[in-house]
Amino acid sequence: MNDVDLMTKIVSLCKRRGFIFQSSEIYGGLKSCYDYGPLGVELKKNIAAEWWRSMVYEREDIVGLDASIMMQSDVWKASGHLAGFNDPLVDCLNCKERFRADKAPKQEPGTEVEFLTGGKSSGKKISGVVASCGYVCPSCGSSNLSPERQFNLMFRTSYGAIDPLNSFVDKISEENLSKEELRSELERCVQSSAVYLRPETAQAMFVQFLNVQQTTAMKVPFGIAQIGKSFRNEIITEHFVFRSCEFEQMEMEFFCEPGTQAEWLDYWRQARVDWYRKFANEPDNFKLRRHESDELAHYSDDCYDIEYLYPWGWDELEGVASRTDYDLTKHAQASGAKLSYFDPQKPDPKTGKNGWRYVPYVIEPAAGLTRAVLCYLLDAYCEEKGVDAKGLEKTRVFLKLNPKLSPIKAAVLPLVKKDGQPEKARSIVKKLQSEGLNVRYDESQSIGKRYAKHDEIGTPFCITVDKESLDDDTVTVRNRDTCKQDRVAIDEAIAMVIKAVRS
Ligand code: GAP
Repeated sequence: MNDVDLMTKIVSLCKRRGFIFQSSEIYGGLKSCYDYGPLGVELKKNIAAEWWRSMVYEREDIVGLDASIMMQSDVWKASGHLAGFNDPLVDCLNCKERFRADKAPKQEPGTEVEFLTGGKSSGKKISGVVASCGYVCPSCGSSNLSPERQFNLMFRTSYGAIDPLNSFVDKISEENLSKEELRSELERCVQSSAVYLRPETAQAMFVQFLNVQQTTAMKVPFGIAQIGKSFRNEIITEHFVFRSCEFEQMEMEFFCEPGTQAEWLDYWRQARVDWYRKFANEPDNFKLRRHESDELAHYSDDCYDIEYLYPWGWDELEGVASRTDYDLTKHAQASGAKLSYFDPQKPDPKTGKNGWRYVPYVIEPAAGLTRAVLCYLLDAYCEEKGVDAKGLEKTRVFLKLNPKLSPIKAAVLPLVKKDGQPEKARSIVKKLQSEGLNVRYDESQSIGKRYAKHDEIGTPFCITVDKESLDDDTVTVRNRDTCKQDRVAIDEAIAMVIKAVRS
């Protein structure tokens, strides 16, 4: 299977089986916005629940937060997002493609390049020379490009019941303004009520540092974890849910003593890559890559990406950054709040006396939840060649998801829809549901088709109830990965499912 095929198959399976749909599809869709269907929402929730379990429930040093998506605009001013959360935007003057300069194909300045007018296959072949920018259009290869301009990725909206455009209309009807004056007047009116959809969940954890620390009496080192939606007006959206404008993040800010950040970065980068590998069939498809010094964000003194081997190559899944004391310092300066920590036991390095007040340093593992959904779907997709009952060649498709991540943990199937089999099957469903598991009763279609459906959606076990089940309380348990069927007592079947999901 080639790489393009795999992505096409995943996208098709996601729609066909109800994992991920195009947003507003019946109206033609909204580009790069996605809805998680009945199975997708379960897969996403299961990944999030495992993350929360490993970050919060299984540790004494991390607590959770669920902050609002909209925050005071001053937050984004202080964090640097208003001035600097930009991508370099370029328009191709030949084919009209809009693209990110930093992602465009590189070409030596001065190189002669050939491309088709309008970027269309029926266009005339013309040539151009690569300018000092050193790249060409990713779509048509043209060197005929607009200058780069900075595009802020934050979505801006207006807060409150006053339409900011009203005061603008008043102003322009009174005065004869130039184009520049109009622009700055419009900006002033809009800015007065502007709020932004957060582009990362991280900032709330810095802004609420004091409240969380004081209410929980957490001692440094400690962390704050959060899962939630983030929004970026991406210039390029690509590879299905890999890069979209609305997505979910799982971020944790770990506050530590200055000077210990390198040690904690080592700890967290390893812990995080191990976490992904634990649920994967191909653990080697997750790796760590250290940032080159010229890649580091201005607030970071070291950073690793956890990368996954996607069909298009290695690419980012999570960043684990050492963010220094940048964020707390900036928010303290801008808000006047004392975002620091006092350790009465530690000697102050300046005085040598016990009692040290310092601004904690931060290690931040920042994961994309919706990106992780894609990784685990890619990791799980399997095709197996075989023959059917008539001896014809067939391909079995199954999602070899870790049972902890599987949307449905077990399907309970009566062989026939009569003779007390549905009632028996439903009683097994009830027992599994009482354990808090998402299981399904399924009596539609032939048993073979039901197995095929549950293979394709990653259900690890199919429990079949037949005539014998009514006599001796046994069932057949079919394993998704091996197709092996075992005859076991109902209680044993239930224990099997619980063990696979919980251990
Ligand atoms: N607080 C740091 C931060 O947000 P980031 O590298 O910009 O760092 C963290 O984002 C993770 O969020 C990325 O590794 C990626 O998994 C996910 N992410 C970022 N932009 C995304 C987008 N447009 N669509 C889907 N996931 C995205």
